[in-house]
Amino acid sequence: MDDDVAFETLAVHAGRADLTAMGVHAPPIDLSTTNPLPGIETGGISYESMATGHGPTEGGAVYARLWNPTVARFEEALAALERTEQAVAFSTGMAAFTAAVLAAASRGSGRHIVAVRPMYGGTDHLLASGLLSVETTFVDAAGVAAAVRPDTCLVVLETPANPTLELVDIAAVVAAAGAVPVLVDNTFATPVLQNPAVLGAALVLHSATKYLGGHGDAMGGVIACSTEWAEALRPVRAITGALLHPLGAYLLHRGLPTLALRVRAQQATAGMLAERLLAHEAVAAVHYPGQGGSDPTGLVGRQMRGPGAMLALELGGGYPAAEAVVGALGLFTHAVSLGGVDSLVQHPASLTHRPVAPDARPGAGILRLSIGLEDGEDLWRDLERALGAAMAGRATELAGASAG
Ligand SMILES: Cc1ncc(COP(=O)(O)O)c(C=O)c1O
Repeated sequence: MDDDVAFETLAVHAGRADLTAMGVHAPPIDLSTTNPLPGIETGGISYESMATGHGPTEGGAVYARLWNPTVARFEEALAALERTEQAVAFSTGMAAFTAAVLAAASRGSGRHIVAVRPMYGGTDHLLASGLLSVETTFVDAAGVAAAVRPDTCLVVLETPANPTLELVDIAAVVAAAGAVPVLVDNTFATPVLQNPAVLGAALVLHSATKYLGGHGDAMGGVIACSTEWAEALRPVRAITGALLHPLGAYLLHRGLPTLALRVRAQQATAGMLAERLLAHEAVAAVHYPGQGGSDPTGLVGRQMRGPGAMLALELGGGYPAAEAVVGALGLFTHAVSLGGVDSLVQHPASLTHRPVAPDARPGAGILRLSIGLEDGEDLWRDLERALGAAMAGRATELAGASAG
């Protein structure tokens, strides 16, 4: 396929080039855990090739912890969409992140990491815990250059960030990091809206569980990167065993052809809802890329091709109001995760960001919304009714307090 075809064309065809020759229309799912070997010598050579981060040779795939063709199809497709040489898929986004840290620590000159907050609570927790025997300095984007040390092996950032959608200038952080590789978590933006590798990021991570799959029925993680990095990541995956199952890979690959359509439709609804929420009297602030002074350097339009479909709202009534809104919503499912076809709401301070240090945890009045493919007016009616319920509850509370 030509390199210059549009994203939509790539998304439909990537990882499927050999299907016609195989006489099939949908990618085959290979569930073999082991593979018959043509000979001891050829099997051994293939094993060695995969154990050192390359593909199988004529000895075949040998064992599914080393290689799986269904997973490789999804990887090829995602690499095409992220404009990288390769991609390596894992069982979850957290497994992918763990592999990135282990690979960076083994390649670099030390075990120090610089991480730009805010970020997903699980990632923050993993870094702060010291579980992977790395030391992490948490900074804001402006603090990266000063935090980098001779033993820094990786700089980590997320943009837009989970849960409050802060934007980080990827090219500026790459410049500040100097020779240190930068990992960008691109889960919220998706390759539809942003390609961090084009801006200099060495590693582009996705929780594929979210927009890439898009239907809330498959977990996975993937890192798009250079061939050199892929060859460092695959041995980590082979040794630690954090594999993406072929059934999951099939579903994630199937999500890609509709990714751009889904993201753009969900984004249009999110933009409309963000505007209306901002004008609602129960809402103290709306966090949505480009809105309310959240993007002083114009990253939406320059770094991102659109603001995306995630937003966070801050309720004037704090935690009781957040609880009332969540309880009153009908179309929004109260659940963690994001990026699927149906709208979700969750309270980050209690759930996704619960393990984060108290001084870095989101406020108690913040709710995060993942906007789905439902009709926008239906979603607005649901939100308006729930915000009304929260305001009525607060009025009753205030009346009770003044009576008491
Ligand atoms: C931005 C971001 N990165 C990484 C992860 C971790 O992904 P997973 O749950 O697939 O391990 C999540 C999960 O919510 C996330 O939101």
